Amino acid sequence: MPISFSAEKVAGVLGTPGSFPAEKEMGTFYKILGVRPNLRESRGNANFGFFKEFPMPDEKLGFVSEALDNYCVDHSTPASTICNEIETYTRKSVEQSMMLTGPLEGAFLKFLIRLTGAKRVLEFGTYTGYSALSMAEALPSDGKVVTLDIDPKNTAIAKEFWSCSDHGKKIQLILGDAVETVRLLEGQFDLVFIDADKPGYIKYLDAALAKLSVKGVIAVDNTLFSGEVLQKSPPSENGRAIAAFNERVRTDPKLDTVLLPIRDGLYLIRKR
Ligand SMILES: C[S@@+](CC[C@H](N)C(=O)[O-])C[C@H]1O[C@@H](n2cnc3c(N)ncnc32)[C@H](O)[C@@H]1O
Repeated sequence: MPISFSAEKVAGVLGTPGSFPAEKEMGTFYKILGVRPNLRESRGNANFGFFKEFPMPDEKLGFVSEALDNYCVDHSTPASTICNEIETYTRKSVEQSMMLTGPLEGAFLKFLIRLTGAKRVLEFGTYTGYSALSMAEALPSDGKVVTLDIDPKNTAIAKEFWSCSDHGKKIQLILGDAVETVRLLEGQFDLVFIDADKPGYIKYLDAALAKLSVKGVIAVDNTLFSGEVLQKSPPSENGRAIAAFNERVRTDPKLDTVLLPIRDGLYLIRKR
């Protein structure tokens, strides 16, 4: 089905983030229950358990309180209007909206690009296009984001939003399984952002290392996985994949690394 909205229309209908009714209803819902949903249960493909009879919560992932998270966002470079519109639309209308990276991580990725002078960026996992556009906005006019995803539906939403931005022309989306696609890519990348399926992370890391420029950086999302990594045997398949990935990185003497508790964990990796 063709998508017939523009970012302006979406913004007009939905208003600013936090203002649409569903968000307010969920806030009331949490107050009535006196609890917030378990982050692990609110992940994509998870069994929602107690919450499955209720609207899916648009839970933000993270280890700091919502108030502190908002404080950090308020004290970081703000997201662009179009990124805000992607976030608002996605949280309101797209399944598994907790997958969206959001303003703090977006600001961090932009900072990293400007700090390192990155010009070519590779992303594993596009979804509705928030992080790809954030990164494109920080690139010079001849910079490029190549973003890989397997899902034509959500990436069609991404393309619609990108077409409303001057920076959208810097983004190239390639549809298909990322492991297959990445083999076909030519050239080196200065920043690689890994944020696709968790069981694929080790393969994505190996592909990223092979294509990384000398001073290139790899940033890997969800590497604390809601704290599952603390468990000897993480309960979910994704949690186990992340634990194995983190161990692979930790034990590689050729890598210089720092694992940061930003949102759901962001592992920064470069070659020594
Ligand atoms: C966490 S989301 C990406 C979020 C995005 N970076 C953002 O900021 O909104 C993960 C994405 O990985 C994609 N994905 C899952 N398996 C994949 C595969 N084998 N190859 C490519 N993409 C895949 C999913 O379709 C999904 O859109």
